[in-house]
Amino acid sequence: MIKNQRKDIHHPAHIRNLPPTILTIFGATGDLAADYLLPALLHMEEHRLLPADFKLACVGRRDLNAKSYFDFVVKKSSVLKKIPQAVKNRFFSRLIYYRADFDSPASFAGLSRLLSLHDRPESDRCYNRLYYFATSPQYFAGIARMLKAEGLLTGCAEHKRQVRILVEKPFGFNLASARALNSLLLKNFSEEQIYRIDHYQGKETVQNLMVVRFANSIFEPLWNKDHIDHVEISVLETDTAKLRAVYYDQTGAIRDFVQNHVLQVLSLLTMDEPYELTAENIRNEKNKILKVLRPFTAGSLKTGLIKGQYVGYAREAGGESRTETFVALKAFVDTPRWQGVPFYLRTGKALHKKVAEVSVHFKEPARCIFKNCAANILTFRLQPDESVHLQLNNKIPGFGIELHQGDYEFGYKRAFASEIPGAYERLLLDFIEGDQRLFIRSDEIESSWKFIDSIIENPEFQKTPVHIYKPKTTGPAEAEAFIKKDLREWWTR
Ligand code: BG6
Repeated sequence: MIKNQRKDIHHPAHIRNLPPTILTIFGATGDLAADYLLPALLHMEEHRLLPADFKLACVGRRDLNAKSYFDFVVKKSSVLKKIPQAVKNRFFSRLIYYRADFDSPASFAGLSRLLSLHDRPESDRCYNRLYYFATSPQYFAGIARMLKAEGLLTGCAEHKRQVRILVEKPFGFNLASARALNSLLLKNFSEEQIYRIDHYQGKETVQNLMVVRFANSIFEPLWNKDHIDHVEISVLETDTAKLRAVYYDQTGAIRDFVQNHVLQVLSLLTMDEPYELTAENIRNEKNKILKVLRPFTAGSLKTGLIKGQYVGYAREAGGESRTETFVALKAFVDTPRWQGVPFYLRTGKALHKKVAEVSVHFKEPARCIFKNCAANILTFRLQPDESVHLQLNNKIPGFGIELHQGDYEFGYKRAFASEIPGAYERLLLDFIEGDQRLFIRSDEIESSWKFIDSIIENPEFQKTPVHIYKPKTTGPAEAEAFIKKDLREWWTR
C-alpha cells in the first residue's frame, strides 16, 4: 500500500511566473502539430501551465485563418473534443494563424511584422520568441537562416528578449547531414538557444530511470558487468507505417527509433551519475556513453543485427522496398563498467502489442544453495501501464524449500492520483522556461549518428537479409533465434 497520494502533479504558471511569450510553430497544419502539439498546449491551458501572457502563432502553407485552423485541429484530434469549451475559448483568444511558404523571404518578413505588432517596448512588454520547427526536415536549415535574415530574432533589444528554437526529429539522416545541420544552426544561434527534441525524454518513466538509479543506494553498487548479465530495451509498436510510409521508407526503424529514443534511453541507463542536475552535467554524462558505443564492423553486422519487414509494408511504401520496419541488435558500451555486457535493442512496427520496456537482468547467484535461484530482473515499463518491477526469489509456503519468483511492482496509476503529464507538455513547458536538461546537445546527436553510421553506412548493411514477418506477431523468427543463440530470451514477450 502506497501512502501519501499526490493530488496534483501540475504547477500552474502563476507559481512559475513565466514571462510573456510568443510561440511560433512552423508546420502547424502537419500531423505532428495537429496530433501532438496543439493537444498538449490545450491541455496546458486547461491546467493553467501557460504563461499568463502567451500567444501562439501557427504558421502553415494552407490558406486558413485562426478560426478555420482551430476548427481543423479540433476536428482532427479526438483528445481535443474532451477539453471544456471555456478552455478552448481562452486558448483561441491567444491564437494567430499565418500562411507562409517556408522558403520565401517575403513570408518571413511578413511574419516578422506580424510578431512585432505584439511587442510594446514603451510599456515594457516584449515577448520572448520561441520557434518550433515542426516542418519536414528539408526546411529546417532555410527557416533558421531566414529567421535571422528577416529580423525575427532581434528587436526589443533593451528588454533582453529571449529567443529559442526547437528542432524536431529527424535531426539529420546520417552523421554528415546531422553535422551540417548543427553547424548551420550554430552559425545563427548559440547552443543554449537550440532545443533538439527527443520526445522520449519527456516521458515520466524515462526521467524516472535516473531517479531510480541515483536516488536509491541499493542499485548503483550492482550497476556493472560484475552483477549485470545483460540488458534489454524493447520498444514494440502495433501501428504500421501506413500513413507515413513514404517518409518512413527513407528512414527505417534504425534511423526512426534507434538513433534517438533507444540510444537516449540506453545512455540514461548506463551513464555515470551527473555531478549536478544541470543540462551540462547530464548531457556530458550521456555523451560519454554515446561516444563509446562499440561501432559495428562488417563482421559484427552479420552476427549482431537482424532486420525485418512486415508483410504488406512494401505495398504501403509504393513498391519494392528493403527498408526495415523491425530491427534487433546487440550493442556494447565500451567502458570498464560495461565490458562484455550485451545490450539487446529491439524495435518494430506492426507487432503483436505496443509496449516499451527496459529490463536489467542481474546475474544468478554465484552459488545457489536452493534449487533454481532465478536471476533478479529489474524492469522499467516505460509505457503503457507505467511501472517499475523487481523480480525476487521467495519461498513458496510449505514444508519443503521451493522457490517462486515474485514480482514487486510499483505502478504509477496506483501511486499517483492525477494523470501523468504528456511528453510534449513537459517538453513544451521546459522550452518556454528555458530548461535544456531534457533536450539533446549537438555532440550527443553526432555521437549517436556516428554509431548508427557504423550500421547504415556500412556496405554490409545493404546485404543483410530483410526477414519478412507477419503483422501482429513478435517479429521475424530470426530475432528469436538471434537472442537464443546467446542462451537468453526476450523478456518483453
Ligand atoms: C516517433 C517515431 O519518434 O515516435 C514514430 O517517428 C513512432 O515512428 C513514435 O511511432 C512513437 O512514439 P510513442 O510516444 O507513441 O512511443
